[in-house]
Amino acid sequence: MTFEIKNICCIGAGYVGGPTMSVIADKCPNININVVDKSPERIALWNSSNLELLPIYEPGLDKIIARCRDKNLTFSTKIKEKISAADMIFISVNTPTKTKGIGAGQASDLKWVEACAREVALSAKGHTIVVEKSTLPVKTAEVIKTILEASQPNSNELKKTFDVLSNPEFLAEGSAISDLESPDRVLIGGESNDAIIALSNIYRNWVPTEKILHTNIWSSELSKLTANAFLAQRISSINSISALCESTGADIREVARAIGLDSRIGSKFLNCGPGFGGSCFKKDILNLVYLSRYYNLNEVADFWESVVKLNNWHQHRLSELIIQNLFKTVCGKKICILGFAFKANTNDTRETAAIKICKDLLEEGAFLCINDPKVSKEQIHNDLGLESLKSLTNYSKRDDFFNFEGQWIFEDSIYKAIENSDAVVILTEWDEYKKINWSKVAKIMRKPSWIFDARSILESKEIISHGLLFWRIGDGSLNV
Ligand code: UDX
Ligand code: UDX
Repeated sequence: MTFEIKNICCIGAGYVGGPTMSVIADKCPNININVVDKSPERIALWNSSNLELLPIYEPGLDKIIARCRDKNLTFSTKIKEKISAADMIFISVNTPTKTKGIGAGQASDLKWVEACAREVALSAKGHTIVVEKSTLPVKTAEVIKTILEASQPNSNELKKTFDVLSNPEFLAEGSAISDLESPDRVLIGGESNDAIIALSNIYRNWVPTEKILHTNIWSSELSKLTANAFLAQRISSINSISALCESTGADIREVARAIGLDSRIGSKFLNCGPGFGGSCFKKDILNLVYLSRYYNLNEVADFWESVVKLNNWHQHRLSELIIQNLFKTVCGKKICILGFAFKANTNDTRETAAIKICKDLLEEGAFLCINDPKVSKEQIHNDLGLESLKSLTNYSKRDDFFNFEGQWIFEDSIYKAIENSDAVVILTEWDEYKKINWSKVAKIMRKPSWIFDARSILESKEIISHGLLFWRIGDGSLNV
């Protein structure tokens, strides 16, 4: 039996649910798509007439919303109603790492997913295909299925039936729309061939058939964790070698180029940086670690855990390096932080290296002036705690230098953020920072003036020619 999908409901209007449903709506004008979320504030932002207020910044998303919203794409909090009307339901809620109880610090907290499954069990009608879109621990589909199957109505009502599919999302933030429009592959795992075909038919509206892979449900769930673990492992590998480059006089850019030309290794994902962030890498690796320990595969668990350990070490290494170079103390010194997002082209700060590095510097008594073109000051407030009430822009006349308690302020203007600072630290590779006028910077910083480029986006000759002291990640040639 082929299921024809006319109504889709997606639970969770987040970084994954919002862009994914927007692209499906754009590519499938005959399917009605209702995105629901328990947060009225988030839904109001998705519905705002000013497209600059959308809750997620993704290049190209605003244009799709303008084309589809209120035609075949809606955003609301009517969770029950939209579930009832749907032939297919995507579960796209967040699955953070547990902070307490069994598996704390490693296992994913599945309470939202379970709550969604119960809501679907209650409100769904007839036959419904439930699709796991959230990244989930292996075997979650089984839990969802058990909850759904336990929910049968009174005997005189129509029986409910369900199929559960796993369809992990591989989009990267900042390039979500192009990743969704031309994915490397679409993975669909499940037991029911009819349900798999129904979901494949949706993707076939724009994805070539040979890129749509069918697997069993456990392989699909495990592939998502494994893909993220492999990618994160590459970042830890290149970052570990960046430290070795700095000590030996080698240059990580040259090493990355040389190894990347080996077609077995490939050139992508070899940029060293301040350590990986984002909502997925750490969480997914820790899930893999938890799963491996559960199955008594302790060596496997240790192997993957070391990827996260290296990342933590690397982030603290950068804070220490800044402190060392500023005469071993940053107390009362003004440090300008350029970039707070976990990478460019997103306003997302989850697990961003900037949080750890800023906290380290605040702990040492630094005065941080933070700039980011897309992250709001309120978000940084959530991540770091209170913003300083007094603006210390008249920094050179400050008198409480030696007893300074770490403070931060947000500054929209890059040059104001830099003014009077002892150091500039680039943590996100925004284009804006590649165009900074370093001659101007040299005139407005306090001397000696340090530039720390943790993203390797600057040219050393240019910076040094203006009398600035320069450190660039993985560049041992600057130390010899
Ligand atoms: C996604 C995936 O779902 C997660 O598993 C993956 O690891 C990271 O990406 P994401 O879209 O980034 O999550 O999460 P988030 O932006 O936090 O959005 C989740 C949304 O679900 C929120 O808007 C939240 O309000 C909503 N939600 C959560 C519900 O509507 N109902 C719930 O019960 C729980
Ligand atoms: C990742 C996966 O790429 C995506 O397939 C999955 O669906 C979700 O997780 P995302 O977290 O959005 O996507 O960003 P990604 O581009 O993978 O970057 C993750 C982190 O690694 C960022 O902090 C980024 O700055 C860092 N990174 C990436 C590097 O330091 N160097 C690189 O070469 C690439």
